[in-house]
Amino acid sequence: MLVSGQLLLNDLPDRARTAPGYVRIEGDQIAEVVTGEAPAECDAGGPACLICPGFIDTHLHLPQFDMQGAHGLPLLEWLERSTFPDERKWADADYAAAMAERAMRRLFSHGTTGICAYSTVHADATRAALQAACQLGIRGVIGQSLMDRNAPDDLCRPADQLIDETTSLLDDFPPGGRVAAAVTPRFAISCTDELLAAAGRLAAERDATVQSHLAETIPECEWAADLFGGARYVDIYRDAGLLTERSIYGHCIYLSAEDRRTMADRGALAAHCPTANSFLRAGAMDRRATLSEGVTLTLGSDIGAGYEASMVRVGRAMIETASSIGESFPVAAEAWRQITAGNAAALGWQDAGHLRVGAPADLVLIEPSVPWLGANVDPLSMLMFAWDDRWLTHCWARGELAYCRG
Ligand code: GUN
Ligand code: ZN
Repeated sequence: MLVSGQLLLNDLPDRARTAPGYVRIEGDQIAEVVTGEAPAECDAGGPACLICPGFIDTHLHLPQFDMQGAHGLPLLEWLERSTFPDERKWADADYAAAMAERAMRRLFSHGTTGICAYSTVHADATRAALQAACQLGIRGVIGQSLMDRNAPDDLCRPADQLIDETTSLLDDFPPGGRVAAAVTPRFAISCTDELLAAAGRLAAERDATVQSHLAETIPECEWAADLFGGARYVDIYRDAGLLTERSIYGHCIYLSAEDRRTMADRGALAAHCPTANSFLRAGAMDRRATLSEGVTLTLGSDIGAGYEASMVRVGRAMIETASSIGESFPVAAEAWRQITAGNAAALGWQDAGHLRVGAPADLVLIEPSVPWLGANVDPLSMLMFAWDDRWLTHCWARGELAYCRG
């Protein structure tokens, strides 16, 4: 398979650029990346197309795909009224399997080929979602949401049961694979001390990815402090052994400089989710301050609090959020890099996020209907701000065609 167009290049540390050329896919890998003139006989693309590494979404909830846009309530009320009732449906593993497949196909249609995803508290549903990921070819981690308090009774489990179940998922989907289970304490509020500590031990034993939420809203921060004897929110995770280079914390809005340094010292990642933050009116994350304290940032859709499946739109929301709080304006080329190589590097997926020979062929082909290659404009900025989902014509995951428009 030979695909021609403008190659999205991530060779600069902080921004993307483009150059004309072509990519050859062989089996599940990128076999050739050539800048310069493309052969006349190509299977897809053209000079005004963009060939991009597949997008990576570092924070989303698979069981929440049917509730995007439902009730823009404050976080804790939204969980109670919208989220938990929808997550309850994953008690039926067949329902979960079908929904996970539908969610992944939808992600492919938006060019997302890598995910860090939450399932529900249900072990069978989580296993079904992991199996769907293996079958469909999406890359990433999926974790059983661990909850043993402060959620409806039927969505809580005893801590030892949760740890046994997640252990079994890690046995079957070990870290390091294209699809792996993750240790996913939902947030400190839904976990006892015992559960957090056991989750920290399990993650360390297995070198597993940890996912959780941190400091998304002020009432959440106050409740966490009440539950954990006034501890700083980030220290609750640190003391449980959950703050490591393998951990990804969604939101991270209400953190002090000291909290951010704690994260930076441990190498923990902050997943910025700008669309979810505006939907739940959570507040705006100070991206520059977070970066300047040395925290590694990723970007995520946070579906279903996030209302956008497209990482291009989430990238645009990152720019808009930054400008709304008067931060120096991140340029679109920085956002394009973030949703590809930036997220990949933060997750330690060294072979993702680049058009590179030998890398898994996780690719997107974009055919804009605007003359984006004009001489006097920043072409990547034009694409991001004028973005139209209909431009995305193909998505390949591990070399297989995962989406084709029409
Ligand atoms: N905090 C705990 N659970 C959730 C969730 O499902 N979504 C968001 N946005 N925040 C959370
Ligand atoms: Zn979330």
